Amino acid sequence: MVAIAILAAGRGTRMKSDLPKVLHGMGGRSLVEWVLSSVEDIHPVRRLVVVGYRHELVMETLSDSQSENPNLPALEFVEQREQLGTGHAVQQLLPHLKGFEGDLLILNGDVPLLRPQTLKLLLQTHQKNRNAATILTAQLPDPKGYGRVFRTDQNLLQQIVEDRDCTPTQKQNHRINAGVYCFRWADLARVLPQLTTNNDQKEYYLTDAVNYMKPVMAVDVEDYQEILGINDRKQLADAYTILQSRIKDEWMRKGITLVDPSSITIDDTVELEPDVVIEPQTHLRGKTAIGAGSRIGPGSLIENSQIGRNVTVLYSVVTDSFIAEGSRIGPYAHLRGHVKTGSHCRIGNFVELKNTKLGDRTNVAHLSYLGDTTAGNQVNIGAGTITANYDGVKKHPTHIGDRSKTGSNSVLVAPVTIGQDVNIAAGSTITEDVPNDCLAIARARQVIKPGWRLKPKSDQKSTDN
Ligand code: UD1
Ligand code: CA
Repeated sequence: MVAIAILAAGRGTRMKSDLPKVLHGMGGRSLVEWVLSSVEDIHPVRRLVVVGYRHELVMETLSDSQSENPNLPALEFVEQREQLGTGHAVQQLLPHLKGFEGDLLILNGDVPLLRPQTLKLLLQTHQKNRNAATILTAQLPDPKGYGRVFRTDQNLLQQIVEDRDCTPTQKQNHRINAGVYCFRWADLARVLPQLTTNNDQKEYYLTDAVNYMKPVMAVDVEDYQEILGINDRKQLADAYTILQSRIKDEWMRKGITLVDPSSITIDDTVELEPDVVIEPQTHLRGKTAIGAGSRIGPGSLIENSQIGRNVTVLYSVVTDSFIAEGSRIGPYAHLRGHVKTGSHCRIGNFVELKNTKLGDRTNVAHLSYLGDTTAGNQVNIGAGTITANYDGVKKHPTHIGDRSKTGSNSVLVAPVTIGQDVNIAAGSTITEDVPNDCLAIARARQVIKPGWRLKPKSDQKSTDN
């Protein structure tokens, strides 16, 4: 039986930010949400989060994001009013975990790159050896700022010394404390009241607890990048780069072509089918899925959208939308607000669609805006066609039937319904419904005045002084 506790009360002074450090974002999730997702596979029986600095904001953010996970136990927030150190943070759990018989996995809220397998291994080692505590350690090329871990050849822990409390010789040790611990709770609960502030920061250190426990084991993580803690914006950016190369390497192994991967970003929530090609400067975000054989980019942003098979998207932005197979989007199109296209549509150059549904083989190929519009199959929207969907107060719908064509530069003033097989003459401003099988012309007739010309200047009365 395992409960988890995440330490998220600190401000994170080194971020130089009003926002609590653990709420800083990295690829669509905050740091603490990454930590929470890394422990899901452990199936904790309870999930506690120690909050302090701007605790209401942290609680609100986490409650919203975690409500999508009904299979996990609800988050329990424990307030640490003053941040007197990591040991003090864990002391706040004492009344909440009274009588708890299992193990407690404690994680710092600023360690977002942990792999679930690593935590499983830590837990297995802890339980198999019946340890009082087991801590995750790593050998860092640059251990500066981390607590140093001293252990025997049998992996038995002797001491953890914070960087600022280390002697010059102790600083030579590159084995560091990752800030991820597994404790037999009953043992830790007994030891917590004994912590002192006898150190450089005058804080209660959780790391001191291990001095009073036995046996305590250290488990080295294989890939030290997993345990990098985020303390400043440079480390945040570095961690994002690591996260991105993990995600992109994985997709390339699964049969996705990434052209110039370093210029591409892909959230871990994205799904790609084989033979998708992602071109440079393209960003795939949120709950986005892309079907086999599609080519996205260069220069495109796709967010929370479903893209079918064999679609091309070139220099375009697509959000909250659905694009059916074989369609061509761009260059320079913007689809937003629940657009749904049929198959083999062509959208762009310079076209904006908002909350618009198109049938199959419908084209909106040049310089148009369609908002709150439904168009059928094989409709051709002429260059520069605009739906005037907003009367200054309300938005209104436009309906266009199958096989209809709008002439260049027509304006459809909504609410308006255009039937099937309709032709709209170029330059028309349509304010009334058009029945099926009609030509609609709504513009002033051209007037020709033969022989008309401007009178010569000398004949005109001058108004100049
Ligand atoms: C801590 C460890 C250090 C380890 C490093 C790994 C201690 C004493 N030191 O140092 O050995 O190498 O993590 O990243 O534990 N927090 C609270 N309440 C507090 C203080 C901190 O909730 O009173 C939270 C912070 O929000 C943060 C986490 O605990 O998420 C770690 O705090 P931080 O100040 O970053 O600890 P480090 O100095 O990095
Ligand atoms: Ca830290």
